[in-house]
Amino acid sequence: TYRRRKRMMEAHDLASKFYNYILMNTEVGVQALHYLERRGLRKSTIEEFQLGYAPDSWDTLGRFLHKRGFDAALLLECGLLTESGQYPGKVFDRFRDRILFPVHDGQGNCIAFGGRIMAKGEPKYLNSPETALFHKGRILYNLHRARQAIRKSGAALLCEGYLDVISAYQAGVPYAVAALGTALTPDQASILKRNAQYVVMAYDGDQAGVNAAKKNAIVLDQAGVEAKVAVMPQGLDPDDVVKTYGSEYFQSLITREAISSADYMLQIMRKDYALSTNEGKSKYLQAAMAYLASVTNPIEQEIHLRNLESEFKVSMDVLKTELQAQAMSAR
Ligand code: CTP
Ligand code: MN
Ligand code: MN
Ligand code: MN
Ligand code: MN
Repeated sequence: TYRRRKRMMEAHDLASKFYNYILMNTEVGVQALHYLERRGLRKSTIEEFQLGYAPDSWDTLGRFLHKRGFDAALLLECGLLTESGQYPGKVFDRFRDRILFPVHDGQGNCIAFGGRIMAKGEPKYLNSPETALFHKGRILYNLHRARQAIRKSGAALLCEGYLDVISAYQAGVPYAVAALGTALTPDQASILKRNAQYVVMAYDGDQAGVNAAKKNAIVLDQAGVEAKVAVMPQGLDPDDVVKTYGSEYFQSLITREAISSADYMLQIMRKDYALSTNEGKSKYLQAAMAYLASVTNPIEQEIHLRNLESEFKVSMDVLKTELQAQAMSAR
């Protein structure tokens, strides 16, 4: 019910303040604060993003919220507490000894947490489960803070992770959001459509990031979103780029150096084919037509067809026939 969801949000809001207090003001949080400072976060940034620390304890949050009148069943249902497999019926704090990133909905209500382990260990991030409040596929991290800047600049920078968004913010880019991982759902694409004129994907400079850009270029196009790709140097994510090369270089990568998603797709696909051979050229053109068949804007389609026509000396008729064949087989 509405009443119950509201109560869950209140619990999350209190929890985020509690965890932030522990991080900033207690001995227990010192290590975590040092971790974040080692990673280059300013105190003001930590406050802005309401980062927190969940102590290494089974019941710190549970007891705190119990005193505030929240019952265990509700806290269990919204994911702040968890049940132990070993001791049936016993409940514990879900997040223990982790840095916490509060996740908010578009209105700024805290609805979930991502918890990062500080030492090596698995999982690196422990997230809230899917609950009545939190549907991962319908949320963009940081949207409520970034919205104004997105409207103003026209652009939304789409990153993978919490620290990419936060580093972008510190680097003077306040319009970054994250889908929390590489997957992007149609729901998230349409949220972007409602808020941004175009989206710049800034995924990690690894194979997973390349795969994400390829896949999500199509998801965004289907939602009618103009998309660009900012390619990060090999092995680096946006956070690493800011730390390694500085804010100005990062800004140039995501603005001047960003290329349209269609240019990116046609370029990245080249790596899969031996373009010095006729067979490779033919296979590449088939793949290119399969991709272009998915492009919804006919003008954009036409421009790329013309480019391929002149580069590969293949007639427009043949390209268009292949395009139509690919469009048919995609349906
Ligand atoms: N993620 C997740 N669960 C995991 C790993 C990642 O939900 N087990 C999500 C988190 O939102 C994370 C994002 O994917 O912020 C990017 O993950 P990854 O690139 O693996 O993080 P790193 O850059 O390696 O680590 P860090 O965030 O410390 O920079
Ligand atoms: Mn990783
Ligand atoms: Mn990654
Ligand atoms: Mn990363
Ligand atoms: Mn990182």
